[in-house]
Amino acid sequence: MIKLPKTLESISTIEFQRLPRHIGIMMDGNGRWARQRGWSRLEGHRQGTQNVRRALDACARCGIRIVTLYVFSTENWGRPREEVEGFFELLAEVIDRETENFRRQGVRLIHSGALDGVPPVLAEKVRRAVDATRENRAYMLNVAFNYGGRMEILRAARRILEDGISPRALTEELFERYLYTAGLGDMDLVIRTGGDQRLSNFFPWQAARGVFYSTPTFWPDFDERELRKALEDYNRFWVGREE
Ligand code: IPE
Ligand code: IPE
Ligand code: MG
Repeated sequence: MIKLPKTLESISTIEFQRLPRHIGIMMDGNGRWARQRGWSRLEGHRQGTQNVRRALDACARCGIRIVTLYVFSTENWGRPREEVEGFFELLAEVIDRETENFRRQGVRLIHSGALDGVPPVLAEKVRRAVDATRENRAYMLNVAFNYGGRMEILRAARRILEDGISPRALTEELFERYLYTAGLGDMDLVIRTGGDQRLSNFFPWQAARGVFYSTPTFWPDFDERELRKALEDYNRFWVGREE
């Protein structure tokens, strides 16, 4: 059983013997959710971005303090231009709406991904939000935006070479410090909504030892009940088995 600071000890430490420390969520299925209703894909993204607040609140109530969200992958540039542009507008709105809340609630925002190629106004919003929450420590929210796992590993390797690290000095611990997620630790549980069982370039290094959980539920419908199902699955996996 993991130890949470007293103030965060919640029902879930009683309910679950073992809680993941860091969870990653691949928020998939916005488009299909909208199509089922005869709506545009963008409407699905709108509902999906609105669901982020609900999902994060659920994580906090369950005692999860480190969450990584897959928002936009390097592969997602291949989508129709209107979808990408519309999605970026929605993201800008979420940042405007939530940054002050994050700042007050002790959420530190971390960005994993590249900002080159992203519209400058949005890139600036991301930088500012990261900056405004830099001192927070209660919760960590890592946003994978314009992120790709292979790109992250290559970037780390390049920087290691640039820093002149000798091959002998290179350990897993040192390598980790060059990743976007430096200090966040391994991803213990990866949840993918939308039913696909693909890895989609999602944090290959950090999730290497994680438990993978896939649910057919589309992202806009993913709520606390769904999160608890994933936590139960994680718990079932580990109880009676020790690392
Ligand atoms: C996930 O939903 C959101 C992003 C990748 C931006 P999708 O847009 O992939 O929705 P589906 O998978 O087509 O239903
Ligand atoms: C994965 O979803 C990326 C995000 C959730 C942002 P996609 O719908 O892009 O996944 P694949 O790679 O096409 O299956
Ligand atoms: Mg998808």
